[in-house]
Amino acid sequence: MELSRRTVIAGAAAAGLTAATVGGTAHATGGRKPVKSLFGKLADGTKIYSWALANGRTRMKVLSYGGIVQSLEIPDRHGRYKNVSLGFDNIEDYVASSPYFGALIGRYGNRIGKGQFTLDGKKYQVNVNDGANSLHGGAQGFDKRVWDIEPFTKGSDVGLYLYYTSVDGEMGYPGTLKVKVTYTLTKQGDWRIDYEATTDKTTVVNLTSHVYWNLAGEGSGTIEDHELQIAASRYTPTDSGLIPTGELAKVSGTPFDFRKAKPIGRDIRAAHPQLITAKGFDHNWVLDKGITAQPAHIATLRDPSSGRTLRMATNEPGLQFYSGNFLDGTLTGPGGRTYRQGDALCLETQHFPDSPNHASFPTTVLKPGQTYRTTTVHSFGC
Ligand code: GLA
Repeated sequence: MELSRRTVIAGAAAAGLTAATVGGTAHATGGRKPVKSLFGKLADGTKIYSWALANGRTRMKVLSYGGIVQSLEIPDRHGRYKNVSLGFDNIEDYVASSPYFGALIGRYGNRIGKGQFTLDGKKYQVNVNDGANSLHGGAQGFDKRVWDIEPFTKGSDVGLYLYYTSVDGEMGYPGTLKVKVTYTLTKQGDWRIDYEATTDKTTVVNLTSHVYWNLAGEGSGTIEDHELQIAASRYTPTDSGLIPTGELAKVSGTPFDFRKAKPIGRDIRAAHPQLITAKGFDHNWVLDKGITAQPAHIATLRDPSSGRTLRMATNEPGLQFYSGNFLDGTLTGPGGRTYRQGDALCLETQHFPDSPNHASFPTTVLKPGQTYRTTTVHSFGC
């Protein structure tokens, strides 16, 4: 698989993308070539583009900055479309204050304790940006990089190839890492993410996507009434810095038991020390299926008010469920509404946090000659 930088195909903007809604009624659309438009400019003049994709009953917009899903629209049970992902309507807010809204995360999704690890006997110190720890690849992670984007149509699928090369030493990580992420919208309206990476030195990699979901629509209020199911009997408790202690604790009899769907709000205020530390849910669930060759079902999210559902499948062994604990009303979305604590949740497929420092966790080490490959599929319904 070629991972080299490619040229964005010119003329994609010329292709038409017909609106799927006529008079408020939803119609399935066939996949059409993604359409590119200017979204804004960075302070140094770099142009940031927005790519519009539609297939089945899903429409999304993706930015060349951070590979960010800037909006994702799906219909409710009456065919009414809403944007179900939090974001901004301008590039300045993404640069200045985004808590990873919709972004691609790398090189290492989630935390590495003190930003330190040892590989092949050599100690590494990566960028520390979350108290004493490194979070989501450091202060200038993949969410803040400009990606090369190439659109495609393949049979009934449409999508984007996103390319980024992270140079040796970037944010302290060893090796030049060539990354290719494929966003595919299938004719069923599923959004599939395929991640690939290669390195020229032994390194660690853990890529994910950080969409903030609110299936009632961004800016519509709390997700505490959303029902969530996670196919996991264990989770990884953390210390006060949200670094796993190493224990794989049973969810049985605790607020962390989502094996049967339950409203997120049901136990979120339980006086459980792990919920008090994290100000809600912000933990890694150890998926019962383990690492699988093909994506397997791991979680279902449902908003009873609209009927919208999200089903997720992955071949990753872990899922970070974050209940939007740090949203504090200071950010305003594209609909003009502020985002408060619990107004969205993230479901980040991943290897476990701080794996480089836990020999008992599945490894995140990538060596020269190997190709990192993971897939996550989001299926929408109502
Ligand atoms: C992840 C982390 C959270 C938080 C968010 C971003 O989900 O687990 O603790 O840092 O990202 O705000």
